[in-house]
Amino acid sequence: MQKHLFSIIVLLGLTASAVYLLVAKPVVAAQSEQSSAVFDADGKLELPTGFSKWVFVGAPLTPNALNNGKANFPEYHHVYIEQKNVDAYLKTGEFPEGTVIVKELTRVLNPTFPDGSRTEPSGRGYFNGQYNGIDLTIKDSKRFAKTNGWGFFTFGHHPMPYEKAAAEKPVSECAGCHIANVAATDMTWIQFYPLLRDKPGY
Ligand code: HEC
Repeated sequence: MQKHLFSIIVLLGLTASAVYLLVAKPVVAAQSEQSSAVFDADGKLELPTGFSKWVFVGAPLTPNALNNGKANFPEYHHVYIEQKNVDAYLKTGEFPEGTVIVKELTRVLNPTFPDGSRTEPSGRGYFNGQYNGIDLTIKDSKRFAKTNGWGFFTFGHHPMPYEKAAAEKPVSECAGCHIANVAATDMTWIQFYPLLRDKPGY
């Protein structure tokens, strides 16, 4: 009898594993193929992980010194895009659905001059200081149909830790400016990212 019971338990275990392999696996795979973005039950976007390993496409800088001491974003803007989406853009001139673009801000390193610069062995200038915030855009033509197919999010404009999840930002705060200026280049400032603009091919 005990032997019988053991066989039944083993059989149940095997069936459960088979069902898991058949059902659960493909769902996970489909998600990661589509996008690295995850929306929670409230429709908030979770802060993506691992983006520091994505392709680094550029670092615009708008320091306070050149903006009457009060730039909206006085930090370096480090921009990251996943390799597969960079490749697709270089091929087609458009980003695939699900593309996430992360803009991570870093302050300029401890200024010693009033214009925010400092001197290092390489010369006087600006150097990367501490992390200070994350903005993000994501392409999802259905979900963000009203803003040219892109959603705009911010996970904080301050030192770490950042918010873990964020709600979509209103058009007036984000999308409006991108729509007015870069609607023709998939809502992204391609002109500032040499890898995407000049397509050097390496
Ligand atoms: C007044 C215009 C303006 C507003 C408002 C604006 N942006 Fe941008 N955004 C830019 C410009 C210009 C760049 C590229 C140059 C730079 O980073 O300085 C940029 C770059 C970006 C990038 C990098 C990818 C890309 O499109 O090139 C992201 C991500 C981004 N913005 C998200 C946001 C979010 C989120 C908001 C709202 C919190 C926002 N932006 C508000 C002008 C704007």
